Amino acid sequence: MTRSRLLQQLLPDLIKQRPYLCDFFAALAITVPQQEVTLSDFLAGQPAGHLAEFALDPPTLIQQCLDFIAQMEKFQGRDQTTIRRLTVKGGHDKSGRPELDLELHAGEVICVVGPTGSGKSCLLADIECLAQCDTPSGRQVLLDGTVPEDAFRLSGEQQLVAQLSQHMNFVMDLSVREFIGMHAESRLISDVGQRVEQIFSTALSLAGEPFTLDTPVTALSGGQSRALMIADVACLSASPIVLIDEIENAGVDRRQALELLVKKEKMVMMATHDPLLALSGDRRIVIRNGGIVAIIETSEKERDGLRQLAVLDRRLARLRDQVRRGECIVFDMCL
Ligand SMILES: Nc1ncnc2c1ncn2[C@@H]1O[C@H](COP(=O)(O)OP(=O)(O)O)[C@@H](O)[C@H]1O
Ligand SMILES: [Mg+2]
Repeated sequence: MTRSRLLQQLLPDLIKQRPYLCDFFAALAITVPQQEVTLSDFLAGQPAGHLAEFALDPPTLIQQCLDFIAQMEKFQGRDQTTIRRLTVKGGHDKSGRPELDLELHAGEVICVVGPTGSGKSCLLADIECLAQCDTPSGRQVLLDGTVPEDAFRLSGEQQLVAQLSQHMNFVMDLSVREFIGMHAESRLISDVGQRVEQIFSTALSLAGEPFTLDTPVTALSGGQSRALMIADVACLSASPIVLIDEIENAGVDRRQALELLVKKEKMVMMATHDPLLALSGDRRIVIRNGGIVAIIETSEKERDGLRQLAVLDRRLARLRDQVRRGECIVFDMCL
C-alpha cells in the first residue's frame, strides 16, 4: 500500500490489520483512541510538547510511523509477492568464457544440472546474495528488470530468498519446539502454537525416521533436519524465491517436499542430479565449468517418461524400506 493511502486509512482498521502498530505507539507513550480517525489526523494531532520528549515533531512522527510500517511489511512478506521476474545477466565460467543469460518467472520451477564441482551451488549462492558483478562468476541479478535495492541485498532476514542448502548445521541448543517457535515469532506469526504443530507434523511426514517436539535440534539426523527446514520454508516463509540444493541425498520424501515447496507464484530453483526432480521442472539449466551453457525445456516425451519414472521410484522406495527393515528381497517379474 502506498504511503498516502496508508495515511488515509482509519486507525482502528489499520490496527486490526497491523497489530504491531500498538507497540509503535506504546513505545512513544501515545494512547490509541477507539474512535474512527485517519492515521494522518491522529499523528498530526499529537501534542508537540509530548513529542518533544522523544525528540520528535509531527512530520518526523509521520515519517517514522510510515517507515516502521514499511519495514514490518517487508519483514512479514506482504510486499514480496510482487516480484514477477528474476533475471541473471550472464557472467563467465571458470575459464573466463561468457555464459548464457537466464530469466525466471513467478510460478516456475527450474532445475540446475551439471557434474559435481561444476558450479550449481555457486549459481544458487549468486541468486541468494543478489549478486551485482561482485562474485567470482561476475553475474548480475535483476528483479523485475531492475537492480534490487540495497535493503534486499543487505538484509540478514533473507526476505526475498528462502534457501535450503546442502549442509545444514544447527549451532544452538534448542528443542524442535523452541526452534520452530523462535522462527514463527521472528516472522511475527500470531498463532505460534498452532503453527509449530503444523510445521512439526509436516516435517514428520517428510522425514524417514520419527522425532518429537522435545528432540534437541542438534540430535536430529541429516534427513530429519532437512525435513524440518523444508517444512519451515514451506509453511512459514513468505519469500517469493526458493532455492534448493540437492535434496535427493537428504533422506526425505523428495516428491512430497517438492509439492510442498512449489506453491503458486513462487520461483523455485533446484540443483539436482535426480532425474525425477530434474524432469519435474519446467526447464533445466546446464552448468559446465562454472558457466550456464544451455537451458533445456522439459519436453512432452520427457514428461511422459516422468510418469514411468515415478512408478519405478515408488518401487525402489518400497525395496529400500524392506532392506531397512532387514527383510529379504524376493525378485519377481513385476520389479
Ligand atoms: N563462474 C565461476 N567462476 C569461478 N569459480 C566458480 C564459478 N562457478 C563455480 N566456481 C567455483 O567452483 C567450485 C565448485 O562450485 P560449486 O558451486 O560448489 O559446484 P557444485 O555445486 O556444482 O558441486 C567452487 O569453489 C566455486 O567457487
Ligand atoms: Mg553443490
